[in-house]
Amino acid sequence: MGEARLRVGTRVDDGAEVTLAAQRFNRHTFWCGQSGSGKTYALGVVLEQLLLETELPLLILDPNADFTRLRETRPGADGRAAAAIAAADIRVLHSTAAREPRLLARFFGLSVASRAAVLQLDPIADADEFNVLLSVRESDDTFDGADYVAQLRGSDDPVQRRLATRIENLQVLGWQLWSRGGRSVTEIVDERPRATVMDLGGFAQPAEPKVAALAILEHLWRTREGRRPVLIVIDEAHNICPPDPATAVERALVALVALIAAEGRKFGLWLLLSTQRPTKIHPNVLSQCDNLCLMRMNAPRDLAELADVFGFVPEALLARAVVPQGRGPARRRVHRGPDADPDRAAGHTRGRLGRPRPPARGPLTLSPGAPPPASPTCPSASRAPS
Ligand SMILES: Nc1ncnc2c1ncn2[C@@H]1O[C@H](COP(=O)(O)OP(=O)(O)OP(=O)(O)O)[C@@H](O)[C@H]1O
Ligand SMILES: [Mg+2]
Repeated sequence: MGEARLRVGTRVDDGAEVTLAAQRFNRHTFWCGQSGSGKTYALGVVLEQLLLETELPLLILDPNADFTRLRETRPGADGRAAAAIAAADIRVLHSTAAREPRLLARFFGLSVASRAAVLQLDPIADADEFNVLLSVRESDDTFDGADYVAQLRGSDDPVQRRLATRIENLQVLGWQLWSRGGRSVTEIVDERPRATVMDLGGFAQPAEPKVAALAILEHLWRTREGRRPVLIVIDEAHNICPPDPATAVERALVALVALIAAEGRKFGLWLLLSTQRPTKIHPNVLSQCDNLCLMRMNAPRDLAELADVFGFVPEALLARAVVPQGRGPARRRVHRGPDADPDRAAGHTRGRLGRPRPPARGPLTLSPGAPPPASPTCPSASRAPS
């Protein structure tokens, strides 16, 4: 990524350009601000800047189909930027409406523990059924779930019949997520596109987007020794790594994200987690974030929590996230608006050991320069409806 800088806006005081140091996305980033503060929009700006200025592959877990048009540029966009976006290998995998290509995953591509979580099987309490699940060959690409259940159903073994009943009762076979011979998200990400957008918002079953996340994150973790960098962007990260996971799938997902947060950095698995409040994501994940991007945040309790976790950020800077009532819409504060406040959009870092470091040496530092370019894909307030 070299010394590439991402142009994200202008400074409120003097209109100077604000840039972020692209190379500092080689660690985990927490992207935080209350609802409507412009997180998703600003994320869009940063992602397109990463596409334009770096070669870092992006994997975007997109719960509200906000980034499914990442490939498109607006009329009148800067020609060089528009051409670069058009030439970039950006794959968008859909779950919303009947759009192709679909976001698909293979049930037997999941780890045994994750398959068991999908079927709500406990390895001890449901030892026999779990054991039947274990015996399926993982490499069997031609596997057909309906055939499998029929085979279990026809078995003389009561345990196999019980497993068939469980699968039918949970209606897992009908999930739109399963690949059924189609190309799974793991195969697509293995082709190393510049960006893969996983549209998670259109699934019928609440567990499906979580299992989709589980499938790709498990795969990235399993293949981590390849040390192929990827920025894993998770908008609305509280859905993926909540502090209080309630289901087996959520517990598996939180454990995995915490593992990636703790160990993934050296393998090139870098997280960018966006949510409204620090307490909405698991503390084991939050505590591993080195970069903070803070938008409007009026709740003192949330700011105190941030001050606690990101001890290196001066209090006065955190306090600037508080915006007095009546100062206009949030969107004008984040990106190019006349009252934009880049200090708020800029983040800070700490050393590897968590020791405080002055913000000026941080990853997302401000640098004065020319006026910012028009964003090729997200100039209008309607780009990222919340
Ligand atoms: N810099 C900007 N320029 C123009 N419009 C913006 C800007 N930032 C945000 N907006 C608009 O403000 C609204 C809220 O922004 P956004 O959806 O990004 O907020 P959010 O912090 O992601 O909210 P939530 O937490 O509810 O997801 C959207 O309609 C968005 O298009
Ligand atoms: Mg949002």
